[in-house]
Amino acid sequence: MPATVVVGGQWGDEGKGRIVDLLAEEADLVVRYQGGNNAGHTVWVGDQHFAFHLIPTGILRGKLCVLGAGMVLDLEVLLDEETALADAGVPVLTNLRISENAHLILPYHKLLESAEEERLGDKAIGTTRRGIGPAYEDKMARRGLRVGDLRDPDMLAEKLSAVVEYKNLILQRVYDARPVDAINLYEALRSLWDHYADTVCDTGRLVLDALEAGKNVLFEGAHGTMLDIDWGTYPYVTSSSPTAGAVCSGIGVGPKHLGRIVGVAKAYTTRVGAGPFPTEVEEEVAKRMREPGGEFGTTTGRARRIGWFDAVVVRKTARLNDLDSLALTHLDVLGQFAEIPVCASYICDGEETREFPNDLGKLARCQPQYTSLPGWQSDISGARKFSDLPDAAQRYVRTIEELVGVPISHVLVGRRRDQSIIL
Ligand code: GDP
Ligand code: IMO
Ligand code: MG
Repeated sequence: MPATVVVGGQWGDEGKGRIVDLLAEEADLVVRYQGGNNAGHTVWVGDQHFAFHLIPTGILRGKLCVLGAGMVLDLEVLLDEETALADAGVPVLTNLRISENAHLILPYHKLLESAEEERLGDKAIGTTRRGIGPAYEDKMARRGLRVGDLRDPDMLAEKLSAVVEYKNLILQRVYDARPVDAINLYEALRSLWDHYADTVCDTGRLVLDALEAGKNVLFEGAHGTMLDIDWGTYPYVTSSSPTAGAVCSGIGVGPKHLGRIVGVAKAYTTRVGAGPFPTEVEEEVAKRMREPGGEFGTTTGRARRIGWFDAVVVRKTARLNDLDSLALTHLDVLGQFAEIPVCASYICDGEETREFPNDLGKLARCQPQYTSLPGWQSDISGARKFSDLPDAAQRYVRTIEELVGVPISHVLVGRRRDQSIIL
């Protein structure tokens, strides 16, 4: 059976965790293919709150969850996440499989990233400082350590001592920062290996076998397509590709296995960290949406920047992912406004454009063009069918569908699992 892929249609935090949680009910396997614990997905089941950074949210439904080769893994963070889930009564180890090819995030990655962000000052990217960029740098430079490298103690000691010697030179001589102790790191990694050894395997083979056996496989994208290393607002992006296309390289399966591609977008827009954001609103307006929308980073706790819905952005991410449908989240948050602006196009250098420019210089000269839609000024969090929504809310959803050119398959009206409308 062809797999389903869930991807972020904006700059992250669209509510992917919620949509994966909904679709996971029918899935046999839930699989992550890129990124690391820079991701933060929140799921509320009744009054119980779960925050995920590495483990797919499918673990809540007792599904087999896979961390694929395209990911970068901080095993200390994985252990913390596993412990928090176990404390909440969710078993993890029996339902977890980790790719032996996934790269490791090690302490020097985090130290180097923080030192560099500090050095950049007001020119910093505003990363999550979880070591993501430096770990992907090492992967591409072919000096990274992979999960499978933890298997052989002698080989691990040899590789670790060579790389730590090199990283300590940079930490000390470039950044005047404290060095990493290779012996302590070796001990910590060996103990993590003992804990996770039984879950480590060739996950490419595992996922392919599941697909060929007709199992329902769900791929969970992290971040948002506008943070893609190639197609996002470079350099204000993350260091992996969150698009549906990255599933194949990140897992090790061919593109013909992908079926439905579901994009997730908020009924407005948010962004964390630095970088361009054409429809960003003034702080006065943002403040009114931040609390009801839960707009504080799941990973870093930072207040998210907020803007109106930007159809130019979502058209671009729909095209990059070849979306079959769009899940629209956070519609309830807009219930407080009498009028809701939606950006349909930009004016750039005197011309109207419906395309998001790749060039940030050109983007800076773009003025969003808004259409104002009537608000519904009521609480819609109890709606469970599309017809339960007030006319103005239905019209808002249909207008976004038309502007983006992709059918809307889900509308979310609150943070809880049951606050969902399936179209
Ligand atoms: P993800 O990274 O895409 O999974 O999204 P996050 O979990 O980081 O951020 C989404 C935030 O919005 C979380 O705090 C969710 O609890 C919350 N949320 C998700 N969907 C809705 C919704 O439809 N309405 C409201 N009000 N909150 C939502
Ligand atoms: P989820 O999966 C929102 C942003 C960071 C920063 C930039 C680079 O929860 O949607 P990085 O640490 O990745 O090198 O930081 O990317 N960023 C996210 N923003 N949600 C995310 O994940 C993000 N992952 C990375 O804020 O601007
Ligand atoms: Mg998030």
